[in-house]
Amino acid sequence: MMKPRLFVTRRLPTPVMDRIRDQYDLLSDPPDRALTPQELRHGFAQADAVVSTLSDRIGADLLSHATSLKILANYAVGYNNIDIAAARARGIVVTNTPDVLTDATADLAWALLLAVSRRVVEGDRWIREGTWAGWAPTQMLGTDVSGKTLGIIGMGRIGRAVAERAHGFRMPVIYTSPRPVTAPRGLSWNRQPLDAVLRQSDILSLHVPLTDTTRHLIGQRELNVMKSTAILINTSRGSVVDEAALVSALASGSIAGAGLDVYEQEPTIHAGLTGLHNVVLLPHLGSATLETRIRMGMMCLENIAAVLAGNAALNPVE
Ligand code: DGY
Repeated sequence: MMKPRLFVTRRLPTPVMDRIRDQYDLLSDPPDRALTPQELRHGFAQADAVVSTLSDRIGADLLSHATSLKILANYAVGYNNIDIAAARARGIVVTNTPDVLTDATADLAWALLLAVSRRVVEGDRWIREGTWAGWAPTQMLGTDVSGKTLGIIGMGRIGRAVAERAHGFRMPVIYTSPRPVTAPRGLSWNRQPLDAVLRQSDILSLHVPLTDTTRHLIGQRELNVMKSTAILINTSRGSVVDEAALVSALASGSIAGAGLDVYEQEPTIHAGLTGLHNVVLLPHLGSATLETRIRMGMMCLENIAAVLAGNAALNPVE
């Protein structure tokens, strides 16, 4: 029996690639780099199913070549890289990978939160540079995390997981979200308008998808509303923050620090960011654990199997 033709745009962890080779006609061996538009077109033109990644820009033009494509399984929870309306118009099902990356991404938001507050990366750099002259009472002072107010913008799965972790740090949690959410038993999360969250948060963590409404949700005005001692954490999408405004706010001391995993023009980083000492910069590692990346791949394959068998997708996007 002929196997369905699968196009994978980027090399995935070995157990996922092994399953793919076993179950599908893999159109080409995916490289460990972003494909060119021409390579994408070539693959989309032949495939019954595609596994895409968040760095592939999938617009109406590319989809117009995908004449036999039934399902586009995006290897990410976010899907702002895909023109969903164009896919829908062509009857192509689009799926994402919710839930399986929630803990990994929430953990990474906390890694940034702690790294910025306690100056972990600066300290490491100091040691490696050989400039540390020994302990001193006023040396490299950070700021307490325990007991501080954690503000969350976007209380979806990842926002909630970040909020749950705050319990161990005895942090009051305030949040803004279109709908109220129920806190786990014993916890109290306080829903407030955006500006109230901006004004009161000691640490503000962003967990909204990138849409026309959330693009530059945090810009100069919002940064001005925040405390001068506040720290901003972004593990959502770079364009939720106006990066130029953030650079100015960090340089002028209008906010105290930032921890960023995502950028407006990945992999290009705003030149102003790399010169600042009060920002920790990671290369989009939110879901980057081996276990999570394997689960994401398997979830893509389950969705593909369901749709190619004529069933409903397990994780269709709206
Ligand atoms: C996602 O899944 O949207 C994440 O950004 C991947 O790390």
